[in-house]
Amino acid sequence: MASSHKKVVLTGDRPTGPLHLGHYVGSLSQRLVLQEQHDQYVMIADVQALTDNIERAHQVKEWVGQVALDYLAIGLDPNKTTFFIQSLIPQIAELTVYYLDLVTVNRLKRNPTVKTEIQLRGFGDSVPAGFFVYPVSQAADITVVKGEIIPVGEDQLPMIEQTNEIVRSFNRIFNTNVFPEARAQVSSVARLPGTDGKAKMGKSQGNAIFLSDPEDVVVKKVMSMYTDPNHVHVNDPGKVEGNTVFTYLDVFDADKQMVAEMKAHYQRGGLGDVKVKRRLIDVLQAFLTPIRERRALLAQDMSAVMNVMLGGTQKTLVVAERTMQEVREAMHMRY
Ligand code: TRP
Repeated sequence: MASSHKKVVLTGDRPTGPLHLGHYVGSLSQRLVLQEQHDQYVMIADVQALTDNIERAHQVKEWVGQVALDYLAIGLDPNKTTFFIQSLIPQIAELTVYYLDLVTVNRLKRNPTVKTEIQLRGFGDSVPAGFFVYPVSQAADITVVKGEIIPVGEDQLPMIEQTNEIVRSFNRIFNTNVFPEARAQVSSVARLPGTDGKAKMGKSQGNAIFLSDPEDVVVKKVMSMYTDPNHVHVNDPGKVEGNTVFTYLDVFDADKQMVAEMKAHYQRGGLGDVKVKRRLIDVLQAFLTPIRERRALLAQDMSAVMNVMLGGTQKTLVVAERTMQEVREAMHMRY
């Protein structure tokens, strides 16, 4: 561990349900590595979750607990990672208000992630203003702890770009270097398709396998996965490109040779979907069983789990207030 090269890692998730394999592949797996090397903060973005769930606010608290459980169950270690809850850091809200003066409405309209998400949610002309500006609040999440490395899925790249525009504007206008630029770190597997073969796994799409799914649910979901629609009879030659079961095997099966042989067999014809799915079920159960067991154990004492989140929040508050003092100084707001 090269402590002199330690950087601040900041990342987080919206608590809109339990985390799934897409989260794992996109960002959670990276965090397990980064916590060994850097000073890592992982935020539960409950404020961001509210930007499109204000009428489900009563559920967000429940989801915060679910996400906290997932974090600890996969092996994020509170001795190495500082967890915090976004709504408990008022400095983020404060910083967001100032950043809003550094961003134009037109620039926000052009943010590709926001554009796609507005379409996905069918907001039409009724986009909540808080949702529209959430990239600005995300810049505040990152910079309030001076985050430099941001492990995210590829859909979040425009957020980091916009963060850096804000950082550069701030540093230029106030002739300071309070904030470092942030660098997105995208995992080698950019994104995991849903079980239906659609480009992205998502809770709202109903095509997700959750880290907390029980064994029988995993079996059911894999058995109904999208394969090659033209592979009707076992003896037909099948396609492996765009075949979701093989895509998952590529990601999760450590036995690359076995996967290569199965692919060749499938392409020649003579290998049925069910056999390939059985292999994927074995591989996924081996991966998920220890997570599921640790999760069940942790869930027996939710107040202990939440205390871990709150302990990290206390530490983050100190760092955030230190940043804000520098911000107020730079902005000529020390009275
Ligand atoms: N927008 C991210 C998501 O939907 C969650 C998030 C909020 C985040 N703030 C962040 C990610 C800061 C990285 C850094 O997944």
